Amino acid sequence: YVIGVDLGTSAVKILLVNQKGEVYKEVSKSYPLIIERSGYSEQNPEEWVEKTKAGLAELIEQFDGDVNDIEGISFSGQMHGLVLLDQENQVLRNSILWNDTRTTKQCEEIYDVVGKQQLLEITKNPALEGFTLPKILWVKENEPEVFERSSVFMLPKDYLRYRITGHIHMEYSDAAGTLLLNVAKREWSQEILTQFGLSSEFCPPLVESHDLVGNVTAEFAQETGLSEGTKVFAGGADNACGAIGSGILSEGKTLCSIGTSGVVLSYEERSDLDFEGKVHYFNHGEENTFYTMGVTLAAGYSLSWFKDTFAKQEAFDQFLEGVNEVPAGSNGLLFTPYIVGERTPHADSNIRGSFIGVDAAHERKTFARAVLEGITFSLHESIEIFRNSGKTIDSIISIGGGAKNETWLQMQADIFNAKIEKLTSEQGPGMGAAMLAAYGCGWFNSLKECAEVFIQTAKTYHPIPENVETYKKLFSLYQQVYT
Ligand code: XUL
Repeated sequence: YVIGVDLGTSAVKILLVNQKGEVYKEVSKSYPLIIERSGYSEQNPEEWVEKTKAGLAELIEQFDGDVNDIEGISFSGQMHGLVLLDQENQVLRNSILWNDTRTTKQCEEIYDVVGKQQLLEITKNPALEGFTLPKILWVKENEPEVFERSSVFMLPKDYLRYRITGHIHMEYSDAAGTLLLNVAKREWSQEILTQFGLSSEFCPPLVESHDLVGNVTAEFAQETGLSEGTKVFAGGADNACGAIGSGILSEGKTLCSIGTSGVVLSYEERSDLDFEGKVHYFNHGEENTFYTMGVTLAAGYSLSWFKDTFAKQEAFDQFLEGVNEVPAGSNGLLFTPYIVGERTPHADSNIRGSFIGVDAAHERKTFARAVLEGITFSLHESIEIFRNSGKTIDSIISIGGGAKNETWLQMQADIFNAKIEKLTSEQGPGMGAAMLAAYGCGWFNSLKECAEVFIQTAKTYHPIPENVETYKKLFSLYQQVYT
């Protein structure tokens, strides 16, 4: 067995997986966000550690096999969150998370000091509030006494792993989201560190996602029931692990994942493509490869907002009944899902959503379908960025909320004009973490080999030519709404 720990934003989800890739046991423990002011979003790293310990103890308690048969453990983590440690490796303040937006001023400062073009060349990414460097600069400016005591920075799952092994590391896929990594060269950028007066000791040593970085300590083993000495592998960023857990491990593979936000993610063998910062460009959890990713801020959230506002008591299945009776194009009703702003392609936190073309003949199911179409159009913007760069995207794996409804799956095929594949069982990032442990343990010679055993397609949806034509016309209207 191996264990995959997915340290998310709302909960830690722990999977015990066997050699066939079957989930043998699953435990989840939730924790709150600390929101002191509007725009702030923090968590106490100790809470991650405590909840992970409790989850592991529960998992081991329920496990009727021999605990020595659990060979390794690895991690997936919410990206970008800043954890600052002092010289004794004590946490100095709450972690400032990826969805905290207090750092607009620091992002401007980064462009002023480094230059936008230079930043894109080194880090492959623009300065966004969610990334780590703006958070470091915020602490430096606003809590200088805290910053002066800091000796190293970490990311959420790297801190958790440190508490399990006693060793400090960071791996490339998460380091890529800090704005301090030279993504193509896979090394900390001396240039950026120097420009902000940061030393290289401030950055942990870099390792690969499947690298063995330590063993479970005696103390942690005693607290959880794990065997002392169980192998610990570095793990990856949640988006990288979500991609691994869905088999996005070769050129041409693309993922559409719809949760609260939605992500279109594409595997990249090369680091030298230029998307002008329009999509995120990060190191993958597979050695020496990359992925690019566009984000729709309110994907599943647009649908849950609509349902909760107009039909709170209904379950999703019930709410979506009848959307298949409405024709493609929702009889002229168009929705834009900018209800909390938008990331890709507009990076605009002030834009808001709309319904356009409301007709007296429209029914509730027309609105529900229009919402699904609007979300899918927004995700299609990311696909178009990839295609305009010369990429071929003809087959997409769909996971999350978007893969739970037949009509929505067919709609994705029609709007994206690509085959849509639904998996037999999807565990997302937690499965990716388990696969990193399985590969690290030497069960397979590569992650690709592991994916062949662990991941299977259940059903494929093919684009319907007539709908593809309808949606092509509507998409160009949709794109005009923003301007
Ligand atoms: C990626 C991002 C989010 C977090 C969520 O850039 O900010 O997807 O990784 O955990």
